[in-house]
Amino acid sequence: KQIPLPSDIYGRRKNSAGFEFGHRESLDRLMGDLSKPLPEVKAGPLVAGVTSRAEEKRVTSPADRSKTVGTVKEATPADVDAAFTAADKAFKAWSRQPVDTRAACLERMAGLLEENRNRLLALLAAEAGKTLDDGIAEIREAVDFCRYYADKGRELFGAPVQMPGPTGEDNRHLWRGRGVFGCISPWNFPLAIFLGQISAALVAGNTVIAKPAPQTPLIAYEAVKLFHQAGVPAEALALLPGGPDVGSAITAHPRLAGVAFTGSTKTAWAINRTLAAKDGPIVPLIAETGGINAMIVDATALSEQVADDVVVSAFRSAGQRCSALRILFLQEDVADGMLKMIEGAAAELNLGDPSKQNTDVGPIIDENQRQMLADHVAEMRVKQKVCYAGNVPETGNFFAPHIIELDSPAALTREVFGPVLHVVRWKAKELDKVLAAVDATGYGLTLGVHSRIESTIRKVTEALDTGNVYINRNMIGAVVGTQPFGGSKLSGTGFKAGGPAYLMRFAEEQVISVNT
Ligand code: NAD
Ligand code: ALA
Repeated sequence: KQIPLPSDIYGRRKNSAGFEFGHRESLDRLMGDLSKPLPEVKAGPLVAGVTSRAEEKRVTSPADRSKTVGTVKEATPADVDAAFTAADKAFKAWSRQPVDTRAACLERMAGLLEENRNRLLALLAAEAGKTLDDGIAEIREAVDFCRYYADKGRELFGAPVQMPGPTGEDNRHLWRGRGVFGCISPWNFPLAIFLGQISAALVAGNTVIAKPAPQTPLIAYEAVKLFHQAGVPAEALALLPGGPDVGSAITAHPRLAGVAFTGSTKTAWAINRTLAAKDGPIVPLIAETGGINAMIVDATALSEQVADDVVVSAFRSAGQRCSALRILFLQEDVADGMLKMIEGAAAELNLGDPSKQNTDVGPIIDENQRQMLADHVAEMRVKQKVCYAGNVPETGNFFAPHIIELDSPAALTREVFGPVLHVVRWKAKELDKVLAAVDATGYGLTLGVHSRIESTIRKVTEALDTGNVYINRNMIGAVVGTQPFGGSKLSGTGFKAGGPAYLMRFAEEQVISVNT
């Protein structure tokens, strides 16, 4: 069946990670819209019948901290309670209506995202530091999620299914929403992941309390307002901006029926502990977390393609993707030549204002993250070899792409979320050691392989159970409905976002048996 992907939003899709401006929307018109001043967004909790009393905080741009993008009022404990009361009350009505009604809201949302694309793109650049390439890919992904989950929702949550079997009774199987879902999301996909979680939970028949990352409340606010405009009742979808405190209050709440979380593995553990400490219903956690993602390159790989794919995978989005390449295994025979090409390709990258057309790499989201990267490089310098460090613009929250050669893969012990590529050399005939090292990270999100030997590709893919494996291409930019995305082990619980099974985790089953 053809998946209704929005391939005409900004023109033709060039490949799974990139884009090409097409004839439908001229680049001039887009750049014209982007050059207009962006009206400041005044965000706050969106809870039916509640006016927030919290203080306004200024939201500035990571590319230029002197630039105000808007203000936000973060949710108070009273807002959290009010949101649960409203969502709990709204659940029966929302979940018992035909799935068509809910799916139609998602489809209208997709249309609204398309209509508002240039404004959202400007906001993604200003608040989240997204380059135009990344912003466009993100809006596309958000639209794809809405249409794909609407489609899958209709398939899964339509009429009850008559069960076959020997009992002689009328046995019917159906799915129901679980109740009030908490959707907790990260800053690095502040639109696509934020509303991917929400649309999945809504179409499955849940009401939703959404908590965006504290770094990106404005985009979330705009997205929730669009959902309401698309027909989702205010009681069925609340927005609670804020940080870990608001997240903990949501996960600890007695009326919570499920959690969709995307973020770090450490936070997933914390949420798991909060859920486990509660009495009452057993609350499922869908967690999509981080990775120490590897790419394995052997001596038969095409070096130009490797250089290009490594630079895209490690440095695009300033390495701030869960899927990004963190550790590159280069076969020793070709390592010197390949490293030189990779350094050359990295040196071509243009860091700067994300809203400019010629920018390849935007800023780091905030000063904490930038400092974490600086500390990591400083720590590595003591024992490892830093073989490349690019330049950064003079102002803004930037961090140069770095390449660090490790004497052992064990030197990298955690996900370093930014433009830092670690390289390890491996000897021919020692592929097993590489596979063991990748497995030993404990993560299982993305994996790249560059080889022209069929048996090597087979051996790697059979040995490792990483969630998304990319052969002879870059390893970012999974496409909804085509490349369902998500990891295993320390990288998440499954099911894969944008895949056929994802919605099942948001619903529960019921079987009705009638003695006829
Ligand atoms: P994070 O874990 O710090 O925060 C994620 C969200 O959890 C935020 O909204 C945060 O406020 C909230 N939170 C923090 N502590 C909480 C608590 N105790 N209880 C409830 N909520 C809490 O992650 P981040 O820095 O925002 O995002 C980067 C991380 O996300 C990286 O590890 C990256 O790999 C991961 N990520 C994974 C995927 C995926 O699909 N697997 C996609 C994007 C990002
Ligand atoms: N789904 C995003 C990617 O594949 C994280 O890059």
